[in-house]
Amino acid sequence: MSSRASAGSGAAVPSKDCRISDHRLKRPLATPGIGDLISRRLARREVLSGSLLAAAGALAVPMVGLGSRAARAAVVRPPTAERFTFEEIEHGVDETHHVAPGYSAEVLIRWGDPVVPGAPPFDPLNQSAEAQEKQFGYNNDFVGYLGLPFGSGNPERGLLCVNHEYTNPGVMFAKRRGRPSRARFAIPTSARVEIEMAAHGGSIIEIEKQAGRWRVVPDSPFNRRITARSTPIEISGPAAGDPRLRTSADPSGRRVIGTIANCAGGMTPWGTYLMAEEHFDSYFSGTLETHPEARNFERYDIPRSRYAWARYHKRFDINAEPNEANRFGWIVEVDPLAPRSTPKKRTALGRFKNEGAESTVSRDGRVVVYQGDDGPFEYLYRFVTEGRFDPNDRAANRDLLDRGTLSVARFHEDGSLVWLPLEFGEEPLTPANDFASQADVLIEARRAADLLGATPMDRPEDVEPNPVTGKVYVMLTSNVERAAEQIDGPNPRDRNLFGHILELTPPGGDHTAPVFGWEVLVRCGDPDSAEADAAWNPSISANGWFAGPDNCAIDGQGRLWIASDQGGGWVESGTADGLWALETEGPLRGMGRMFFRVPIGAELCGPRFTPDDRTLFVAVQHVAVSGVEDNPAFGRRSTFEDPASRWPDFDKRMPPRPSVVAITKDDGGTIGA
Ligand code: FEO
Ligand code: CA
Ligand code: CA
Repeated sequence: MSSRASAGSGAAVPSKDCRISDHRLKRPLATPGIGDLISRRLARREVLSGSLLAAAGALAVPMVGLGSRAARAAVVRPPTAERFTFEEIEHGVDETHHVAPGYSAEVLIRWGDPVVPGAPPFDPLNQSAEAQEKQFGYNNDFVGYLGLPFGSGNPERGLLCVNHEYTNPGVMFAKRRGRPSRARFAIPTSARVEIEMAAHGGSIIEIEKQAGRWRVVPDSPFNRRITARSTPIEISGPAAGDPRLRTSADPSGRRVIGTIANCAGGMTPWGTYLMAEEHFDSYFSGTLETHPEARNFERYDIPRSRYAWARYHKRFDINAEPNEANRFGWIVEVDPLAPRSTPKKRTALGRFKNEGAESTVSRDGRVVVYQGDDGPFEYLYRFVTEGRFDPNDRAANRDLLDRGTLSVARFHEDGSLVWLPLEFGEEPLTPANDFASQADVLIEARRAADLLGATPMDRPEDVEPNPVTGKVYVMLTSNVERAAEQIDGPNPRDRNLFGHILELTPPGGDHTAPVFGWEVLVRCGDPDSAEADAAWNPSISANGWFAGPDNCAIDGQGRLWIASDQGGGWVESGTADGLWALETEGPLRGMGRMFFRVPIGAELCGPRFTPDDRTLFVAVQHVAVSGVEDNPAFGRRSTFEDPASRWPDFDKRMPPRPSVVAITKDDGGTIGA
């Protein structure tokens, strides 16, 4: 879903695709066409390179910290000690993808491609739910890689675990032809709902590299689809069986059909795949009037009614089935090595709009999972297992995520961050505030965190621990609702259009510590725009900046890579989303470099390196949608019949197709260096 915001002329305007409400986006800008935008960016680039050349001849001023536009003009030093040596690509927008020179980016699997045995070839005009359940789903987001056999770290054969976050009917389904009809689409709504449900969830595919090229292993016994439509999922942990999780279809409160809104996720040290349920509110319809869960649901923006699912499946009608929405918003654990296993919703990790769940093993063996709750003024969470990881006994780790301590972050202006446990019975999480159990605390994790005094953040997305340096990186994608009087250290801009990145420091590398340090790594946005008030390394190039940090990856050398999601913001920034390398150490800390760019209307998700750093998988999501599907100011509506791009097939019979791309270096070497 796309929405737009404005900050005044010349500023990049990110808006997001993952169902961020439109109510705060009030003032649409006059929108220039693509040609105007590209001309404007090129003109700026010429000016910039002129000033850099002039400065390069005169400087030798030590650079300290990050620079805003003003600092950049005065203090410029040539790049030294670069950890990334690829030649960056340019900002821009067009119908296809781009990767740095010397690299190849090949499509590995597309929406509709066969996954499990018996899957029919993709036929977009005759799609069915039965076919879709066997084919690769829509809007690929998280990507995980597990080398085969387990424990081998094999970089050339493994399982790819991919989330399918949501669906875009406008470019998925053909319009109705012939006689005038009120029906917009050729496929009836009931059938579309079934296809959409089958296109959600996840895919597990076995892949292998042969003669330098990746391919999907057809009919592998590991290949699997998990869907919103038919996959049984167990509910485990402290909230399992709670009366608030019981429904007419499941009086036990321990079994639910399907998972939805699977945005990012994580891979655990024991080789399982975590699917984060994010904007689950979008699927529920009804009214909160006299609803027994009204306070709870309101805190999660339920109902949002963006889909017609409730019309055909009463469980998505909050009045017909008042507890169903309590069964979503969790972290789902899947064992990709056991394709018949039942995935589990791990309630100990809390219920909110989970962006992702990346983890690390602490020094004492406990496992630490970091989670962001993607909403304006929402929170950053950490889960620490009670038990310890056993590297020699995979089965012993099977239920580690069912017991532990969930905490939420409170940031202090002195640079410290305190983790506040969400523990029932400890003030204020007591019956006095209507919490009767730990299940209540987890089901209403947002309200519990409110009461604890957690720090409201600018939409926390991916949170990734760096196993090489021990630091933790937090993507804060934007928050246009933040007012000037709400600015604080970790959220330093009002009307935060561009997002920023925080760096957390666990003391002594101890991820279980109760107090961390924090600092802002970069404030995103155009460094040439005074209005943006961005902060990057003063040496940053014309293409090295970005907006809307969403997903990230840390490669085997501990280097940070950022994937962006500006939503429709590319219309103003002049560049499509993409992947940037970002220096975090030494004098170049805070300098970006653009590596990959997506086609028009897409966002980039799931960056994931193989263990040898010689392949980078990226997920290109909602091609031809953001800024074109819902934005008539662009000059056309992107539709199934006339999409803004037919990437990756460029075949008139094919709509745009979200796809996973495998990037390799042409000489077979390490990505980025
Ligand atoms: Fe689905 Fe927060 O990105
Ligand atoms: Ca996103
Ligand atoms: Ca995301």
